[in-house]
Amino acid sequence: MTARHLVLIGMMGAGKSSVGAECARRLGRPLVDTDDVVAALAGVPVPEIFATAGEAAFRTLERQAVADVCRSPEPLVVACGGGVPVDAGNRRALRAAGVVVWLRAPVALLAARVGDGDGRPLLGRDRIATLGRLDAQRHDAYEAAAHVSVDTADLDVESVAGAVLVAFGEHGA
Ligand code: S3P
Repeated sequence: MTARHLVLIGMMGAGKSSVGAECARRLGRPLVDTDDVVAALAGVPVPEIFATAGEAAFRTLERQAVADVCRSPEPLVVACGGGVPVDAGNRRALRAAGVVVWLRAPVALLAARVGDGDGRPLLGRDRIATLGRLDAQRHDAYEAAAHVSVDTADLDVESVAGAVLVAFGEHGA
């Protein structure tokens, strides 16, 4: 049987990219970010897709990116854009292809981590309000997608990566 992907989900600012990079380094696997796959499919950066084609077009490309990543025969660490698990088909595909770990953090911390929101088109001027709304809206989808969750609030990247890899091992790496 092929090794499963390690899939990280969670809100913007949850630490998927930084924790994903550390997990990839320790596992000796490539890190693939679904946003990068979307940008490659579109030939333009994510903010430009939102600006010129809109969110629905971005989500269509994102579903394609998730399907492509899930099909990879090489075991990967996958950092998913925050909205990926909202789609039921994405949830099914990710759970079938990998162990899905939900990185969680309080909204105030997410807001601090995303800073001025540069490169994140969904964040308006009031970052805390937007993140709070999305976090509440997406809670059930994240829960349905995840095999396990890891709290990132009080931990640094190395410690979170360690906790993620323990969870990965326990859930059938
Ligand atoms: C989004 C999160 C972003 C990116 C896009 C939409 C979202 O990815 O996919 O801006 O819907 O939460 P990150 O979670 O990596 O910031």
